[in-house]
Amino acid sequence: MQDLDISQELAVKNSIQRKQFYIESYGCAMNFSDSEIIGSILNAHGYGITQDEFDADVVFLNTCAIRDNAEKTIRDRLNQLRNNKKKNRDLIIGVLGCMAERLKSKLLEEEKLVDVVAGPDSYRDLPKLIAEVEEGNKAINVLLSREETYAEISPLRLNTNGVSAFVSIMRGCDNMCSFCVVPFTRGRERSRQPESILAEIKQLSEAGYKEVTLLGQNVDSYLWFGGGPKVEYKQATEEQKANAVSFAMLLEQVALIDPNMRIRFSTSHPKDICDDVLYAMKKYDNICNYIHLPAQSGNTRILEAMNRTYTREWYLDKVKRIKEIIPNCGISCDIIAGFCTETEEEHQDTLSLMEISRFDFSYMYKYSERPGTLAQKKMTDDVPEEVKSRRLTEIIALQNKISLENNQAYIGKVVRVLADGLSKKSDQDLSGRNDENIKVVFPKDHHKIGDFVDVLIERVTVTTLIGKAV
Ligand code: 5AD
Ligand code: SF4
Repeated sequence: MQDLDISQELAVKNSIQRKQFYIESYGCAMNFSDSEIIGSILNAHGYGITQDEFDADVVFLNTCAIRDNAEKTIRDRLNQLRNNKKKNRDLIIGVLGCMAERLKSKLLEEEKLVDVVAGPDSYRDLPKLIAEVEEGNKAINVLLSREETYAEISPLRLNTNGVSAFVSIMRGCDNMCSFCVVPFTRGRERSRQPESILAEIKQLSEAGYKEVTLLGQNVDSYLWFGGGPKVEYKQATEEQKANAVSFAMLLEQVALIDPNMRIRFSTSHPKDICDDVLYAMKKYDNICNYIHLPAQSGNTRILEAMNRTYTREWYLDKVKRIKEIIPNCGISCDIIAGFCTETEEEHQDTLSLMEISRFDFSYMYKYSERPGTLAQKKMTDDVPEEVKSRRLTEIIALQNKISLENNQAYIGKVVRVLADGLSKKSDQDLSGRNDENIKVVFPKDHHKIGDFVDVLIERVTVTTLIGKAV
């Protein structure tokens, strides 16, 4: 073997000795995006990333707390990790994100194998928390911040296809929907400095990425006033107002970075999405015609109990306005079945709202009571489990019917698809999404991941358009 000089020898030694972390993300896109920030912070402190949990010195689960099921999944996974710890007694196990924030030190008491508990605003502290564990202690940081946006941290892209990336533009949520634990686990809403968002997207464009999704719990209330905790518009000074950046303004600036890069965003709130955003979408071809607009319910009394701050009519007017300005806009929805006190007629209102709005797809859930939320404190979770299940089944059946009908209208049409991976069913087919965010599958031929391809749609399923490149 060729002799190494001392510096090379040191480099080899470092790479052998370098500690490795392994991270798994659960829940929403925001968590997957946070894991990339965590990756970057750990990298900067000398930790390498491994895809093999048994190779790792540190295993992190970046968790979700939105429904009880999400937390059960994490408890099961922690149980499995007992084996990993048996094999490697020095293994450090950390629970990060929303479940960590919700349970705080209780998690350390309940799950003895957990060494680190860290909430969504304490990721800069992770190297220190790991060091504390190495000294033989348990380590916890669940402080929430009014300012942290990790603005200048360049995310370490994990499991990337090199085509699509998430870019976080704000954190937290001030809406206090009565069913939702997010305002308690992710803290107050704050917007990220626009320059850092634009710089990150420019870098992605230069690295060959073809699509970014701007992320926030409520992107339409993005508002940059120059930093610090959120300032309400009415309380802002004249100077702050003159220099303010709204979501519509940010969207325009993002669209201009690279006309060949697709721009998406999620999630929108029906009370906040405004004409300015819709006109920006109309003006720029590269802003995709797709809006995720959770309704949660189609009944005004239930919406009020949910503290959603809009009525059924307001929601339907929004859908109408979207279709007026962007006629072919794709719209998807979140729906909760069986919220506290929901009657049969009120459930029927949800079904009729779906019929009128004709969502392309929906994420549909049974109501799951979450400790600490307004609904848990003030209302009774009184819709029996079997009624919730039956209502959810009806909601899913109706959505499937509408999705299939919407998709059938594509037969014979040509859609532009950004290929972002191989089809799950065959490695001879590419998979991607059209502008309206519907999945499209077509034979690969000479096309490759990252190409924009015009596809003639020949047949469809509830979830997928199937065709061939033209
Ligand atoms: N039970 C059921 N679904 C919930 N969601 C949020 N909180 C709950 C809950 N307690 C759903 C909402 C939200 C989506 C992210 O999760 O539909 O839009
Ligand atoms: Fe939860 Fe409502 Fe905020 Fe969405 S808008 S994260 S549902 S509180």
